[in-house]
Amino acid sequence: MGLKIIDSALSTPQKIVTNDDLSQILDTSDEWISKRTGIKQRYQVVEETTASMATDVAKKLLDKSKVAASEISLIIVATMSPDFMTPSVAATVQGNINATNAMAFDVNAACSGFVYGMSVVNGMLKTGNFEKVLLIGSESLTRLVDWTDRGTAVLFGDSAAGVLIENDATDQSYLINEKLDTIGEMGKYLTAGNVAALNDKEQSFFFQMNGRKVYEFATKRVPESIMTVLDEAQIDPDDVKYFILHQANERIIKSVAKKLDLPMEKFPVNISRFGNTAAASEPVLLAEMMADGKINHGDIIVFSGFGGGLTVGTNVIKY
Ligand code: ACO
Repeated sequence: MGLKIIDSALSTPQKIVTNDDLSQILDTSDEWISKRTGIKQRYQVVEETTASMATDVAKKLLDKSKVAASEISLIIVATMSPDFMTPSVAATVQGNINATNAMAFDVNAACSGFVYGMSVVNGMLKTGNFEKVLLIGSESLTRLVDWTDRGTAVLFGDSAAGVLIENDATDQSYLINEKLDTIGEMGKYLTAGNVAALNDKEQSFFFQMNGRKVYEFATKRVPESIMTVLDEAQIDPDDVKYFILHQANERIIKSVAKKLDLPMEKFPVNISRFGNTAAASEPVLLAEMMADGKINHGDIIVFSGFGGGLTVGTNVIKY
């Protein structure tokens, strides 16, 4: 039984916030943000919510692929910024699109969420009980941002994207290998949404991050994770068409490419337009690449994410 990506779709809020916009409210500059992160602009929710964007993605996927909502048996939304603790975003999407035959739940592995979600989908497909699945990453991270903290406020953005996955009985498309790691003892270096802060003004509900620690973690653990996955599967890195990495910082992506001794052409980057959209970042990039016809059946694609938890995860798929 194989995991086959049939289609992808993307949804962005209407409002765009540029670095210059942020420099009006924070002691920062376009030069600092661009140089340190590669970000030029990000989307910000106003009327939109994590569930409304995920619903938009789900509707687009059904429209594009001519699949009826009743054919969907599983909906997973990867998110660290759900609108409610309960119901889950996935359950709201299920209701909104009337996918009455689907079970639905969220996966929270922060920026590794899409990779973790893909592994969960793969495991569930193997049970033989699921045929058509929606896997969506959706985030409203700007709702978790302290707009007086220039160290984090400039980094995050909002968006959603996802894929329709089918069980491929011919086994031509499949998840080749995966590695998911969680380092809970480092969780304190990146936190957001502390519910205790709702009753205790001493605590913060917003992003708290030790950027240096997360940077060091990512530039060490992401290349290690990718190498392990490829070595185990006996895949030459040169045979990978694209490495779709979590878009947190362009410098992190360049460092990973360098450590793997691979050209940047294999590492697509769109962080300049989206900022860090956590679990949405990889499906957003994938959706743009698929729309541009850059991915063809038979291609080997690596997805690798890292973030809160701390978590790191890599999947390699035959598309
Ligand atoms: N504008 C201007 N100056 C700034 C800003 C800003 N927005 N932010 C920080 N600075 C200042 C600092 O105050 C510091 O000033 P000082 O030297 O006078 O003390 C200086 O710039 C350097 O700050 P650093 O934090 O050392 O900058 P660094 O080069 O490490 O870049 C960054 C910071 C971009 C956050 C980097 O550490 C990073 O990308 N880390 C990884 C973060 C990440 O990926 N997080 C998301 C994980 S995904 C998830 O799960 C949500």
